[in-house]
Amino acid sequence: MSIALAFDIYGTLIDPHGVVTELQNHIGDRAAEFSRVWREKQLEYTWRRSLMQRYRDFGVCTRQALDYADELLQTELDESAKNSLMQAYRVLPAYEDVPASLELLKNKGHRLYPFSNGTVDMVTAVLENAGIEHFFENVISVDSLQTFKPDPGVYHHVIQVTNVTAENCWLVSSNGFDVIGAVSAGMKAAWLKRFDGVVLDPWEFEPTQVIRSLGELPQVV
Ligand code: LAC
Repeated sequence: MSIALAFDIYGTLIDPHGVVTELQNHIGDRAAEFSRVWREKQLEYTWRRSLMQRYRDFGVCTRQALDYADELLQTELDESAKNSLMQAYRVLPAYEDVPASLELLKNKGHRLYPFSNGTVDMVTAVLENAGIEHFFENVISVDSLQTFKPDPGVYHHVIQVTNVTAENCWLVSSNGFDVIGAVSAGMKAAWLKRFDGVVLDPWEFEPTQVIRSLGELPQVV
């Protein structure tokens, strides 16, 4: 019986904090606030575009959210600063617990897939730069469906592509909306609660498992 594990990328395997470091070079101590607005808008744009059925890829959503944050916070980033921030998105490090945990999971015979809002090109670049691409099967991107998480279609797509039963198909994600989307669509889901004080939306969907580090996952699956 084969188990497929679909890993969310940003915030789950890959630490987006590297973007804050790059932001600090441009706007100093406003970097954290900027990064928060940028990330929130990026996700909001994916949700709105899905609802409106006006798909543009995750790179476009990210770039338009960057332009929005710059205008809102009046940081006056020039084109070259914006380009280096977009470039920083492709060269982010993996969290410390990632390589050893992926190795253990792979040695158990599980099949591991990156599963992201990001395009195949973005996700491949970030995994290669973080040195963890060799653990994975092909990248599963929402781009092939022209919609975003948490559209149920993207989770059904994961079950179909991985060719296992829903019972054996897990999402692993630190993003609460992603976990709730997967459970609602019939997948199993491990919610990686990386930080204290993070709250899961109090909806009617529970994660199959809550883990505090990726190192706990090989004991679960
Ligand atoms: C992703 C976003 C949700 O990687 O972080 O799909």
